[in-house]
Amino acid sequence: MTISVGITGLGAYLPERRLTNLDLEKMVETSDEWIVTRTGIKERRIAGPNESASDLGVKAAEEALKDARLTAKDIDLVIAATITPDMFFPSTACLIQHRIGADCAAFDIGAACSGFPYALAVAQGMIKSKFSKKVLVVGSEVLSKFVDWKDRSTCVLFGDGAGAAVVSEVDKDCGIIATYLGADGSQGDLLKLPAGGSLMPSTHETIDQGMHFLKMSGSEVFKVAVRSMSMAVNEVLGRAGYTIDKIDCLIPHQANYRILKAVAEHIEMPFEKVFVNVDRYGNMSSASTAVALYEAVKSGVVKKNSTVVLVSFGSGLTWASCLIKW
Ligand code: ACO
Repeated sequence: MTISVGITGLGAYLPERRLTNLDLEKMVETSDEWIVTRTGIKERRIAGPNESASDLGVKAAEEALKDARLTAKDIDLVIAATITPDMFFPSTACLIQHRIGADCAAFDIGAACSGFPYALAVAQGMIKSKFSKKVLVVGSEVLSKFVDWKDRSTCVLFGDGAGAAVVSEVDKDCGIIATYLGADGSQGDLLKLPAGGSLMPSTHETIDQGMHFLKMSGSEVFKVAVRSMSMAVNEVLGRAGYTIDKIDCLIPHQANYRILKAVAEHIEMPFEKVFVNVDRYGNMSSASTAVALYEAVKSGVVKKNSTVVLVSFGSGLTWASCLIKW
């Protein structure tokens, strides 16, 4: 007998400190006007000097557990999606598992900004295959520690935050209807953090050259983002036999307001149905769709019986979509 799998609890955590465009004007040669017109971003949150991805993730996870009316002991798998882990190992999922008091398997997923929908798809598969019953999925990022604050072409774009979801069996008439995951490693150079891994271990030279900061070819990524997110929405709808008019809310990865506009045009969806919070948080990578879904549900934009599509793209390059009946 097939079972339905869905989200039964949500949580989010945004660090308190706000970095506005006016603050950035004092740091690099930029302007509020440039940032707003090119990206739609007005401010972003910045983690404290001692706050890590697991710190943010634990706070989001605890809220999601409460929302699902569960305790950490009920969870039998923790999946953390992050490109800004506390450290290479142990995994951020293991750190979160320990700190929330869970006693279960835990691993990280590395799909950059597509990490949250990737992890939801994996969680659904683990539950359908009966490996797990209740999975905690966390998207948590502290990008501010991997951004070159002297590079105006990237530092204005990113922010810190975390979102979490409890995934478990749900009633037959709701839950995750279809998922679609994709990747194209041939375009990996468009968005990467070059040093600190086995290819280019940390040396004084790599640090002097700023190779431990995120590097991005912005305009190339922009084009792939529009293409891949539009394709991923159409693909997940096709898999479920749905058409775009049946979708109540699109929750896209929040990288750039202009990307969201272009995707809505490509898939012929009225922009009023697109959930936008990029103005307040910037691009939080794997936390973006998680926090956007959280806010859409908590504000009542997404409610019982709403049909939602989550869609994301990111470094890899990767893309992912997830059709959910709420
Ligand atoms: N302030 C002022 N001027 C700037 C700034 C800035 N912050 N940044 C760049 N510029 C300048 C450039 O130097 C360039 O000047 P030039 O014409 O004299 O050379 C000019 O603005 C235009 O630069 P472009 O890069 O062509 O600007 P574009 O319109 O493409 O916008 C942006 C840049 C915002 C980065 C855009 O390309 C974009 O959003 N790309 C996608 C980024 C993205 O989605 N990344 C996802 C990452 S997901 C993950 O996995 C982490």
